[in-house]
Amino acid sequence: MGRLNGKVAIITGAARGQGEQAARLFVREGARVLLTDVLDEAGEALAAELGPSARYLRLDVSREDDWARAVSAVAELGPLNVLLNNAAVVFARSIADTTLEDYQRVIGINQVGTFLGMRSVIEPMKHAGGGSIINVSSIDGLQSKNGLVAYSASKWAIRGMTKTAALELGQFGIRVNSIHPGGIDTLMGNPAGIATADLDRYYTLQAIPRVGQPVEVAWMAVFLASDEASYCTGSEYPVDGGWHAGQRNPGLPGA
Ligand SMILES: NC(=O)c1ccc[n+]([C@@H]2O[C@H](COP(=O)([O-])OP(=O)(O)OC[C@H]3O[C@@H](n4cnc5c(N)ncnc54)[C@H](O)[C@@H]3O)[C@@H](O)[C@H]2O)c1
Repeated sequence: MGRLNGKVAIITGAARGQGEQAARLFVREGARVLLTDVLDEAGEALAAELGPSARYLRLDVSREDDWARAVSAVAELGPLNVLLNNAAVVFARSIADTTLEDYQRVIGINQVGTFLGMRSVIEPMKHAGGGSIINVSSIDGLQSKNGLVAYSASKWAIRGMTKTAALELGQFGIRVNSIHPGGIDTLMGNPAGIATADLDRYYTLQAIPRVGQPVEVAWMAVFLASDEASYCTGSEYPVDGGWHAGQRNPGLPGA
C-alpha cells in the first residue's frame, strides 16, 4: 500500500526542482497526478517517464482560464484530493531598483497563482468529500532577506492565505497547510549550478550544516497530502535544516 493510494493530485511547477521530486514520490506512493508547468517539453517528458498514473498539462498559474482547464482535465483521473501549489519565480533586486512591473509579475505568479489554485479546487474537493491543499511558501515567508521585497511579500501572503483557507474549508474536510523550504539545491536555489559540496560551505553554521535536496521537501508534501496528516491544518511546516532555529555560535559552548 502506498501512502497516497487512490488519491488524485494536481502539482504546479512539476517539470523540475521540488515539483518534479514531488511528482515522482506521489506516483511512487500510489497517486494519479496531473503534472502542470509552463515548461511543456520537460513536463511532457517527465509524465511519459512516470507512466499511466501521470499526465501533463500546460498551466500558467497566473491565468484563471488555465486553472479552469486543469480542473476539467484532472477530473479524467478521478475526484480531486490534493493540490500542491508549488510553482513560483524568484526575483532579487533592492526595493529602490524594483519596478512596479517586476513587483506585480512576482505577485501575479506566486501570490495570485496560489489564490487562483485554492479557489479553483474548492468545489472539486468538496465533491470528493475532502482534500489537502499544500501551499509552498519559503523560509522567506517566515523572515526575509534584503533584495527579496517582491518574493518575500508573495511568500508571506501565501502563509496568511493558507490560514484563511484552512478556517473556511476545514468544515468541508479540506486541510490547508504551508511548507517553508530553506536553501534547496534546485535551479531556483542554486542558479549558478555550484557543486553541492561547495554549496554546503554556505550552511556551516546551520543546525544541519548542508544545503537541502528537493526530495527532502517533497517528502513533507507526501505527508501533508496523505491521511497521516488528518488532524493537520492551517500550519507552517519548515523544511530548512534548522535555519529558522538560529545559527550555531562558534564563540559559545556546544558549537
Ligand atoms: N530552491 C529553494 O531554495 C527554495 C527555497 C524556499 C522556497 N522555495 C519554493 O519552492 C518552490 C519550488 O521551487 P524550486 O526550488 O523547485 O524552483 P524551480 O525554479 O526549480 O521550479 C519552479 C517551477 O515553477 C515553474 N513556474 C514558474 N512560473 C510558472 C508559472 N507562471 N506557471 C506555472 N509554473 C511556473 C517553473 O517552470 C519551474 O518548473 C517554489 O514555490 C519556491 O518559491 C524554493
